[in-house]
Amino acid sequence: MKCEISQNIQAAANLIRLGELVAFATETVYGLGANALNPEAVAQIFAVKQRPHFDPLIVHIASTGQLDELTTEFSSTAEKLASTFWPGPLTLVLPKKKVVPDLVTSGLDSVAIRIPAHPVARKLLEITQLPIAAPSANKFGRLSPTRAVDVAEQLGDEIKLILDGGPCTVGVESTVIQCLGDQPVLLRPGGISLEEIQACIGEIRLAELEDYAEANSPVSPGMLPKHYAPSTRLIIVDHPEQLPAAGSLGVLSLYPLKDTEFRDCQFTVQQILSPTGDLKMAAANFFAALRKLDAAGIDQIVALRLPETGLGRTINNRLERAAAS
Ligand code: TXA
Ligand code: MG
Repeated sequence: MKCEISQNIQAAANLIRLGELVAFATETVYGLGANALNPEAVAQIFAVKQRPHFDPLIVHIASTGQLDELTTEFSSTAEKLASTFWPGPLTLVLPKKKVVPDLVTSGLDSVAIRIPAHPVARKLLEITQLPIAAPSANKFGRLSPTRAVDVAEQLGDEIKLILDGGPCTVGVESTVIQCLGDQPVLLRPGGISLEEIQACIGEIRLAELEDYAEANSPVSPGMLPKHYAPSTRLIIVDHPEQLPAAGSLGVLSLYPLKDTEFRDCQFTVQQILSPTGDLKMAAANFFAALRKLDAAGIDQIVALRLPETGLGRTINNRLERAAAS
């Protein structure tokens, strides 16, 4: 591994200004960042991630003052969402200006923008004074990194610096909302729950997984059904009684299961997302727990579906896509 794990924000900012890649902490997951206005730098992101070019990137900014440079319109809905949830785990898809390279947006007329809350990400954005394009810092389709060491494991040979900001406190990617016409559309459930969004702007249309089934879907290119996947096969069950009886298993659940709930099944390892059933804690632990199970040398991971409320919905979405074949 040739990369350095560091807390030197100035060094990271210098690399970004030189057109190089830097992985950095955000409150959701670690991002793989480059100057969003430099197409050669952005091309490196796609190369290192092995990401298909039809999958557009999120552009991170330090403050709403930078919106004018990048976008042509900010609807009243976008305004409400931004003033409630920024800085934070919310991404808004907005009409873009020409200055945003086509590579960033996969040729779309819109650009995804987020103001992150993590102090390290904010400082990096403030020092560079540049918009930073950053997808999650993992190989395309794999598990998102929530610690600097997770990034090093997947991308350590290909980047120079990982800006360490500790473990991510939200732990799942941002909620992506398209604010183009009159009707906002929730494209990806994430760190802000559907209930919080509804409390802010009322009912919102949800893009269904079917909308993403086609790689060149007009709704949100890149949101493929299969994503966030461990190497080990993963299945989802609704009740402990449905746990398979054969093979070596790793079990992922919200609460600890009782021994009796396992019947005869020989589970080898277990990961509990939150002993108290707290869904925010579960989200913060989610990717690290999947990583541990993936490294356990088992035949299959069995995840128990979480309650379909709050961040439970986001975690279930990631599980569905990890299980998709
Ligand atoms: O929390 C996060 O959002 C993290 C951190 C690093 O900020 N980033 C992240 O990026 O999850 P990524 O690339 O893994 O996911 C971004 C998704 C893309 O898959 C794409 O579908 C959607 O955002 N997206 C980006 N630009 C879009 C656009 N113009 N229209 C519709 N969807 C867009
Ligand atoms: Mg990702």
